[in-house]
Amino acid sequence: MTQHDKLFTPGPVEVSAKTMAAFSRPMIGHRGEDFKNLYRDIHPKLQTLFGTKQPVFLSTSSAWGVMEASIRNLSGRGMLCCMCGAFSDKWLDVARRSGKNAEALQVEWGSHIDQKGLDLALASGKFDTVTLIHNETSTGVLNPLPEICCTLAKYPDIILILDTVSSFSGMKIDMDALGIDVMLTGSQKALALPPGFSLFSVSAKAFARAEKQKDRGYYFDFLEFRKQQENWMTPTTPSIGHIFALQSKLDEIFEEGLENRYARHARTNGLVHDWVKQTGFDFFAEEAFRSKTLTCVANNRGIDILSMVKRLRDEHHLVIDPGYGKLRGKTFRLSNMGDETEHTVSHLLGCLDDVLR
Ligand SMILES: Cc1ncc(COP(=O)(O)O)c(C=O)c1O
Repeated sequence: MTQHDKLFTPGPVEVSAKTMAAFSRPMIGHRGEDFKNLYRDIHPKLQTLFGTKQPVFLSTSSAWGVMEASIRNLSGRGMLCCMCGAFSDKWLDVARRSGKNAEALQVEWGSHIDQKGLDLALASGKFDTVTLIHNETSTGVLNPLPEICCTLAKYPDIILILDTVSSFSGMKIDMDALGIDVMLTGSQKALALPPGFSLFSVSAKAFARAEKQKDRGYYFDFLEFRKQQENWMTPTTPSIGHIFALQSKLDEIFEEGLENRYARHARTNGLVHDWVKQTGFDFFAEEAFRSKTLTCVANNRGIDILSMVKRLRDEHHLVIDPGYGKLRGKTFRLSNMGDETEHTVSHLLGCLDDVLR
């Protein structure tokens, strides 16, 4: 690849030349055997990554498409949106814009969703659907999924819609064992694919809810996805380039080995954490609830973040994020998702040292 500015933003991330080559393979038709063989090939690997025996669906949309679809297919008498940052907060807005009855379980940005607070809210009996973001990308908070799922197990009629957009394939998440009803992710984070594509899986309980739901529409109808997948197809013409790229990436993932991949993400994340401590910065996310795939650094040193980000790009061709939404300039975020290694992350941190000197 020619010299370009390399992304260390928490999505999109750098896409390798190998993945781009797969993305731009010659086109095939989406109703023929070639496509069915492609879907057949990737499906068991996707099920392993999701930790599910349920079908895994391919959506030609960014993650928000499936997030909105989940609302349309599943929301019933009351939706509780667990909110701890920009993406999880937005879910309430999207639910209300979709005409649904939704309420907030809000915690301060930087804090995690606590299972006791969730339990209290659910005990009101007002809700039959919960939205949760596993890894809140705007704040770098990793919510305690096993504990939250344990609490939800007390409420067997409640559907859990889980966004794993910035944690999927960077850490282990067992959809079936945890009792997750919809698990969704996007292409441009730890999978290191081009943006504009997403993956999701739906539990039997959620399908039963969707069957009773009116106005599911067409493009994002979960039942349509299920029907088409039974024949190794998608409801509409998919982004076939993304699926070629996904096939190539899945081969790499299974060559590396899942445990090795998770361990690599933990190690590169550890390097960033060490750097934050050594340089006298603080973490924005509270201790014990910090993401393994990105780090949100608090600007306690009062540096000019925008100028640091600009110099890193101009002088080193590396791109980091200067903080999301209301955290712009108050934080910066470093991603260790995707193909990054100790070598590439150390290089980023060395360049940051240079710029900060
Ligand atoms: C946790 C999380 N959820 C959802 C989204 C939305 O993804 P998209 O813009 O690809 O639809 C993002 C994007 O960064 C995210 O980080």
